[in-house]
Amino acid sequence: MTLPVTPKVSFGGDYNPEQWPEQVWKQDYRLFDEARIDTVTLGVFDWALTQPGPDEYDFALLDRVVARAAAEGRRICLATGTGAHPPWLARAFPEVTRTDFEGRRHRFGQRHNSCPSSPVFRRLATELARRVARRYAGNPAVIAWHVGNEYGGACYCDLCAAGFREWLRARYGTLDALNDAWNTTFWSHVFTGWDQIEAPSALTEHWRGPDHTAFQGITLDYLRFMSDAMLANFRDEKAAIRESSPDVPVTTNFMGMYRPIDYHRWAPHLDFASWDNYPPDDESAARMALTHDLIRGLKDGQPFWLMEQTPSHTAARDVNPLKRPGLMRLWSWQAVAHGADAVLFFQLRASRGACEKYHGAVIGHAGRSDTRVFREVAALGEELGRLGGAVLGARTPARVALLFDWDSWWSLEISDGPSRLVRYQQVVLAYHRALWEAGADLDVVAVTADLAGYDVVLAPALHMVKGDLAARLEAVAERGGSVVTTFLSARVDENDNAFLTDVPGPLGALMGVRIDEWDARGPEFVNPVRLGADVEVAARLLFELVIPQGAATVGTYQADFYAGTPAVTRNTFGAGHGWYVAAGLDAAGVSWVVRQVLDRHGLTGAYPDRPALETATRVTPDGTRILFLLNHDSVPVRVTAAVDGTELLSGDRISRGAPLTVGARDVLVVREDPR
Ligand code: GLA
Ligand code: ZN
Repeated sequence: MTLPVTPKVSFGGDYNPEQWPEQVWKQDYRLFDEARIDTVTLGVFDWALTQPGPDEYDFALLDRVVARAAAEGRRICLATGTGAHPPWLARAFPEVTRTDFEGRRHRFGQRHNSCPSSPVFRRLATELARRVARRYAGNPAVIAWHVGNEYGGACYCDLCAAGFREWLRARYGTLDALNDAWNTTFWSHVFTGWDQIEAPSALTEHWRGPDHTAFQGITLDYLRFMSDAMLANFRDEKAAIRESSPDVPVTTNFMGMYRPIDYHRWAPHLDFASWDNYPPDDESAARMALTHDLIRGLKDGQPFWLMEQTPSHTAARDVNPLKRPGLMRLWSWQAVAHGADAVLFFQLRASRGACEKYHGAVIGHAGRSDTRVFREVAALGEELGRLGGAVLGARTPARVALLFDWDSWWSLEISDGPSRLVRYQQVVLAYHRALWEAGADLDVVAVTADLAGYDVVLAPALHMVKGDLAARLEAVAERGGSVVTTFLSARVDENDNAFLTDVPGPLGALMGVRIDEWDARGPEFVNPVRLGADVEVAARLLFELVIPQGAATVGTYQADFYAGTPAVTRNTFGAGHGWYVAAGLDAAGVSWVVRQVLDRHGLTGAYPDRPALETATRVTPDGTRILFLLNHDSVPVRVTAAVDGTELLSGDRISRGAPLTVGARDVLVVREDPR
């Protein structure tokens, strides 16, 4: 099963009319008509309404909400409502609340507050999902199921500790295998009974918070366990939905690059992926592109839903900037360009009270349609209507892959040494930005993905190398491709134990280098790196000392006792190359390396000298290419058209070689002529 079937890109968002009187609903729908809102996500936090007591279910209000949406002709993404448990449940069964990292058992409050291992929570959440599905599955307006909400966080209660032990038994089978994996002879940790194993927290292995652990292996396994425990919650609910709804697709809303949950392990269990995009600032175009590509990569390139974004501003941050005019539209089109088949908002109408009363909404407290925000939403609704079904199901034809790996993220950031300042996302973002500015179409994929279709594979800060990955990367180079990796890659195996070989472990042969020493310095320290004949860039944070074992030197350090030694190398391997970047190069340095690689394969985009002009291509199921040009700058950009085609929003003809202007924060959606 794949995506919900819709005639066009779905447009709408979270709608919680249970918070206001029914006479307002009528007004809401007239405004939805005006904005061409066709999809509503209902019931995300309704558990306290739908189950007011242990043996009592009451769907009267949700019935009216659903019936009204259906009668108004909207498509419905219906939630199971288990993202927050009701007060009576916590009161009757204190086990459903979470215990935090410091060991404090929480009482009722907030949301995303349930212990994933609590049998009571699991039973009641599953039962609620079962009843919701049974009740509404026959309603043709329901096109998708939304399980829970933004799974995340962690619990450290006794039930979770017991669940952890079960998970470990399944993974390791014997205590000998577990002791070996965790290297427990270090600091007298040899376990002689499963019941001796504790959840790693502030009370046990940790100090200074969740990233400082005495035993990386234990903490890493707890992260994996917690992600799996919440996945089990999702799967319980999905199975219950399936009992009465065999064909309506199921999703849950992800949070993009969210560290606690390994979305690659979840992805096979979702029918389609969806995510909530709340960029921290308005400088995040590249980061959003990366995250869209990551989410699209979860389901092997299948389109996804943008489940939430704010039309204007968030509320939860200390400072909540307003999206400038045009940005909401531009970023919505960016999502579509990267594979979104739905553009949905949080939220359609603003809450009257509680912590999100100042969160942006399509309709504010006064219920007006003559606001700037409403007008921009309505204009986008009109445009998406004009686009119709033109991009539905369309895929991205990328020959560049960027590897993204939660295990590497976790193992790098819970490591003591070499440096707490090297952050996984920052390294990935740096390499992604270089690709993005060069205009390369790319996929962001798991380390288990099939790499056969890619000419270029980038693996920044790939701290952990597991399974047959090294062999698959070698195969990419063998047949003429390029593989790029960086400092701190291939350091540990899947249990976070160092490889008992030269660094970079299983990537040594492909990279043709050996590293005996490395130096970490504060951000103020710069070692210049000379690239090629005459380019000088800055390197910071980490400096590995490279001893070539066949690789050619491409860049050298310019200072300190290792001045003149390699900082960037390229190894010929089969018909291709293994590139090793041993230091934290600045943006210019990363870009220099990435451009060399893209140029070799002819994969640099049409406008590499226009970094704010983003291009992205989708190919529809019938082979039509749709090229998106997105100008993230606040001034127009003038270029030469690279294709022949028709701009779908204006109907204008585009001719290859002719001058083309993309207005400030504007987008062109070009259907290319068949070649
Ligand atoms: C998340 C949640 C929503 C809402 C928004 C506010 O994405 O899923 O319920 O809280 O944040 O930005
Ligand atoms: Zn728990």
